[in-house]
Amino acid sequence: MNFKTIITTIAVLGTGITLAACQMDAYQAPNPNGSELWSGYKTATAETRAMQDDDFANPGMPMVDSAAALYNKKDGEANMSCADCHGAVDDPKGGSKGLPMKGVSARYPVYDADTKKPINVELRINKCRTKYQKAKEYKYESDAMLGMTGLIALQSRGIPMMSTADNPSDELNAAWKAGEAFYYERRGQLNMSCKHCHEDHQGELIRAEVLSQGQSNGFPTYRLKWSKLGSLHRRFRGCNGNIRAEPYGYGSDEYLNLETYLAWRGRGLPMEGPSVRK
Ligand code: HEC
Ligand code: HEC
Repeated sequence: MNFKTIITTIAVLGTGITLAACQMDAYQAPNPNGSELWSGYKTATAETRAMQDDDFANPGMPMVDSAAALYNKKDGEANMSCADCHGAVDDPKGGSKGLPMKGVSARYPVYDADTKKPINVELRINKCRTKYQKAKEYKYESDAMLGMTGLIALQSRGIPMMSTADNPSDELNAAWKAGEAFYYERRGQLNMSCKHCHEDHQGELIRAEVLSQGQSNGFPTYRLKWSKLGSLHRRFRGCNGNIRAEPYGYGSDEYLNLETYLAWRGRGLPMEGPSVRK
């Protein structure tokens, strides 16, 4: 298959996904990507895709396995494990609190009434650590956090990303708007926005890489370049750095808003985490 054929195939697949998404959220603004919604998986090399397709070959999985042990381990002053409240990580009933992990990554970020800001899965995990386990937060880009977000993402594999943030009555609407503005804002010495690469030049080659739509449905991602799992915010920092723009902090308001906006752009795309990329 040549590149044009691949893109056409993707377009056909994407149309089905978008139609399904439109029926789900009739009031939503049109997606800036039009009818073609596709993840970086589509333009990854055959070798990279094969690694993602097989959990035994996926180099991100050992970290996820370690997190499965952490999930069941009692910790903190409360001496409680995640499983004590949420049940086994794949328990569809979500244990005694009725809060299953299935679907969480597809639904987040959500609105956090305490901070009046979006909360993503990383910050949600840390909130449970401090509030309920009375334990120390995981560092944002630590192995424990990456493994735990990978473990939780795994429970949402195949579930379409969802977001209602462009609805004016949605509590996340202000964050969504700020994220959208960030997406289209030129920055850095190269004076470029996310749009220049991921909207205008999607499907085209840049150096040795094919530009994708910059979707967030595969995170955390095992990048061969990083030789480990990395968060979406790490990718944001990399993309900002490449155009010589100042990166924002892990878990910063700017990146939480951007994450909220990307979840909306990708709504309807099935979750892939932990994915594998170059
Ligand atoms: C100079 C071009 C360029 C700009 C500008 C840029 N990126 Fe990227 N981005 C890349 C390249 C190259 C990759 C790796 C290949 C791909 O998936 O596009 C990438 C990958 C990504 C991915 C991972 C996609 C996946 O499937 O794993 C995300 C998410 C992303 N970018 C978001 C952003 C956001 C948000 C912005 C704006 C803050 C941005 N990028 C700005 C070049 C760029
Ligand atoms: C003492 C009980 C308790 C423990 C221990 C606990 N949680 Fe929670 N968790 C909750 C409650 C209750 C909520 C609902 C939000 C709230 O009330 O703060 C929640 C919410 C969540 C959510 C969001 C669920 C959703 O549907 O939005 C995730 C994800 C989560 N917890 C993960 C974890 C992880 C991972 C751990 C272990 C590191 C953990 N929790 C430990 C009680 C707990």
